[in-house]
Amino acid sequence: MYALEVVDLTVSVSGKRILKNVSLNIKCGEVVLLLGPNGSGKSTLVQTIIGNPKYRVESGKIIFYGEDITKLPMEARVLKGISLAYQIPPKIRGVKVRDLIVHMLRKRGKTKNIVSELEEYASLLKVQHLLDREINVGFSGGEMKRVELLLTLMQKPKLALLDEVDSGVDVENIALMGKVINEHLVGSGASTLIITHTAQIAKYVKADKAYVMINGSIKCEGDAEKIVKTILQYGFEKCIKCLGWKL
Ligand SMILES: Nc1ncnc2c1ncn2[C@@H]1O[C@H](COP(=O)(O)OP(=O)(O)OP(=O)(O)O)[C@@H](O)[C@H]1O
Ligand SMILES: [Mg+2]
Repeated sequence: MYALEVVDLTVSVSGKRILKNVSLNIKCGEVVLLLGPNGSGKSTLVQTIIGNPKYRVESGKIIFYGEDITKLPMEARVLKGISLAYQIPPKIRGVKVRDLIVHMLRKRGKTKNIVSELEEYASLLKVQHLLDREINVGFSGGEMKRVELLLTLMQKPKLALLDEVDSGVDVENIALMGKVINEHLVGSGASTLIITHTAQIAKYVKADKAYVMINGSIKCEGDAEKIVKTILQYGFEKCIKCLGWKL
């Protein structure tokens, strides 16, 4: 059974075609890496999966647990159990992290144990001191990423999309985030798509497979460890030249 099937997806933003015939799948409970150079379309893909209306699907389908969600609005997708941790999370002045999370979960019908779970996850991610601050206002890069992961965990998603979860995060905090992802996201049965440049997070979270996106298309799919090793050793450009990842 697949948690997610992206089928032959072509997407444009502001009239510019960014994704071309992208196909990708994640089986239930799998951890999948998505790698690719800057500007290749990785964030565009996850924004399209979550249903950001800025991204226009020209053709193709997004299937979530067997259901075609391509035309569903973002809120409906989130209610079905998809979450997105943003690469660049928005600042929200006047709203505290704690209040956003409590409001978001109550709106979705959860009333029990919100505060105790929030305290538990905040403590695991070492972000208790941020709960009563305005969302992302003045947060360091690493703090923003840990709060994004906190938001993801609190939603208890069936499919977690983590966009550049490890960029700008120090070594100890990557290890910490990896442990939390393993124990509380993957461990709870969530399927997970992790976008990463450096693959640092892959040292701590074992991925079942990896995809490489170049210039809006998937050029390679296979064993995560092998692909990460090759990219870190040679870089994307050499891989494109030597492995026939045509542009
Ligand atoms: N509104 C827009 N108008 C024109 N081009 C856009 C728009 N939004 C995104 N793009 C372009 O789409 C391409 C893909 O961007 P995207 O953010 O998906 O890349 P990415 O793979 O996530 O890159 P990075 O690794 O730097 O995060 C980029 O060239 C970007 O400039
Ligand atoms: Mg991106």
